[in-house]
Amino acid sequence: MSTQSTLSKKSAVADPVAQTRKRAKMTVPKFMARKGDESAEPLVCLTSYTAHVARLCDQHCDMLLVGDSLGMVIHGMPNTLGVTLEHMIMHGQAVARGAESALVVVDMPFGSFEESPEIAFRNAARVVKETGCQAVKIEGGVEMAPTIAHLSKRGVPVCAHVGLMPQAMNSVGGFKTQGKDEAEWAGIVADAKAVEEAGAFAVVVEGVVEPLAEKITQAVSIPTIGIGASSKCDGQILVFEDMIGLFPRVPTFVKRYGTMEDMMKDAIERYASEVRDRSFPAEEHVYKPT
Ligand code: KIV
Repeated sequence: MSTQSTLSKKSAVADPVAQTRKRAKMTVPKFMARKGDESAEPLVCLTSYTAHVARLCDQHCDMLLVGDSLGMVIHGMPNTLGVTLEHMIMHGQAVARGAESALVVVDMPFGSFEESPEIAFRNAARVVKETGCQAVKIEGGVEMAPTIAHLSKRGVPVCAHVGLMPQAMNSVGGFKTQGKDEAEWAGIVADAKAVEEAGAFAVVVEGVVEPLAEKITQAVSIPTIGIGASSKCDGQILVFEDMIGLFPRVPTFVKRYGTMEDMMKDAIERYASEVRDRSFPAEEHVYKPT
C-alpha cells in the first residue's frame, strides 16, 4: 500500500464527520442483497433489549435482534420458554426507539406461532404494529416452512432460525451443538433450504459445527447469520450481554469484548462504601439555596 493511500485511510478514520455520518436505513431487500455481493463485508448483528443499547449498537450493526434470550439475560429466567409476546413487544418498542439505521427484528416467543399459520400471523402482525420492527424471527426448519410462507406472503418478513433451537430444549434435552455426527447434516441443510423456499429473508444458524455451517451457507441464497457457527456464515450475531461480559455463564463460542460485570461490581462497591463513610454526596453534588 502506498504512503498516500495509508495517509488517506488514516485521515478517514480520524475524521469526526465521517464517524458521525448516519448510515442509510437497512431494509429487508438490502439485507438480502448482501448475500450475492461478493465484495460485501459480513453482516454485523447484535441483540439489543433497551433503547440506549440499541442507540449505541445502531451505527455499527446491520441488524438488531430483540431475541427471546432476553428472558435469560434480562429477566433471569433459566431458559427462553417463559418469554411472552408482551415481553417481546415491550423490549421491541424500546429498541425501535433507539434504532435509526439498523434493521430491527423481533423474535416470536415459544407458544406464539407454532399452533397454526393464522395464529402466527395474528401475533406477528401485533408485534410489527406495536413495535415498528421490520421483521420477526421464528425458530424452526421444515416444520415451520408453511408458517414462514404464510407470514412472508402477507407482509411480515421472517428471519428463520435453524441448528440449535433453544425453544426445543425440552425435546432435545438441553442446548446441544448440532451436526457433531455427520448423519445429522442432511436434515439441518434441508431445514435451511425449506425456510429459504418458504420465503425467509435470512436464517440464523446456531450452534453447528463449522463444515455444516459452510454447507448451509453454500446451499441457500439468503444470508446465513451465525452464532456459534464459525466464520463460514454470511454474518455473525452475539447476545449483547454475553459479548460485553455482563452475563456470568457463556458458551465457548462467545468472545468477551468487555468486562462490564467487573466494572459494575466495582462501581457498586465504591458507591456503597462512599455512602457508608459519608464521602458521597460531596459538595459538588449538593444543591444550594441562591
Ligand atoms: O434470542 C436470541 O438472542 C437469539 C440469538 C441467539 C440469535 O435467537
